[in-house]
Amino acid sequence: MSTSLRPHRDAGTGSPAQRPFLGFGLGLRPEHYLEVLDGRPAVDWFEIISENYLVDGGKPLHYLDRIREHYPMVMHGVSLSIGGSDPLDFEYLAALKRLAARVEPAWVSDHLCWTGIDGRNLHDLLPLPYTEEAIAHVAERVGRVQDCLGRRILLENVSSYVTYTDSCVSEWEFLSAVAERADCCILLDVNNVYVSAHNHGFDPLAYLDGVPGERVRQIHLAGHSHHGPLIIDTHDHPVPDPVWALYAEAIARLGPVSTMIERDDDIPPLDVLLGELARARLLAGSASPPSPLRVSCA
Ligand SMILES: [Fe+2]
Repeated sequence: MSTSLRPHRDAGTGSPAQRPFLGFGLGLRPEHYLEVLDGRPAVDWFEIISENYLVDGGKPLHYLDRIREHYPMVMHGVSLSIGGSDPLDFEYLAALKRLAARVEPAWVSDHLCWTGIDGRNLHDLLPLPYTEEAIAHVAERVGRVQDCLGRRILLENVSSYVTYTDSCVSEWEFLSAVAERADCCILLDVNNVYVSAHNHGFDPLAYLDGVPGERVRQIHLAGHSHHGPLIIDTHDHPVPDPVWALYAEAIARLGPVSTMIERDDDIPPLDVLLGELARARLLAGSASPPSPLRVSCA
């Protein structure tokens, strides 16, 4: 008997209508381990890449445990391949669950994508066709993942560079339908919205208007690179002004959402990221109060 798609009201994500707010965080990167421990910077929480800590011991876990003593954390994965057609990897999920028991994260997230086929990992976060078949496929798998982990998960929108001729709804309608049907939450990457809007020619504000705000638990802010007609989601630059502007629009619609700077390459000194975090705080603090949530899912 399948127990998928039952509601999960636990493990930090709260009920869909009650959004916990962690404040303003950073991705925890090895380059900053010692500075974080010694200097205790004014960061409200850290996000870890789950796969970097799915080990039995060694330096990463040593620093993870020590830093966790001082900061709340969330876990962010890249290996779930929730949209893939290979069977779910229950060994990976068991390891993820063990790490969650160790870290006690506010929540666990991954991406709304597929990452491989026939056991081969393509090491990329690939978009799905936005079809009813894909919605049903992903929602069923999210249900089984949530049952396994015993908690509601967050799914993040990815940047994309191609579309499928089979798609029959917009990306935000697809994301919303998966979240509603699976009763999961959303990690809204504002940079990814901006990148995909540019690449595919849609209105990023329509995206913000289209997502179920009460399910958005976290926001990513990041930088990108221009390559000819495309923008590539490189995460190796500071957050650019158009993404800051879109973040202001998101906060105006959603209200306070736990926000972090996501820098994955060309990692700058911690002070640089703290400066970006200060800008996020300032923008969020000056946002006008949001209008009431549009969709009830009590
Ligand atoms: Fe992201």
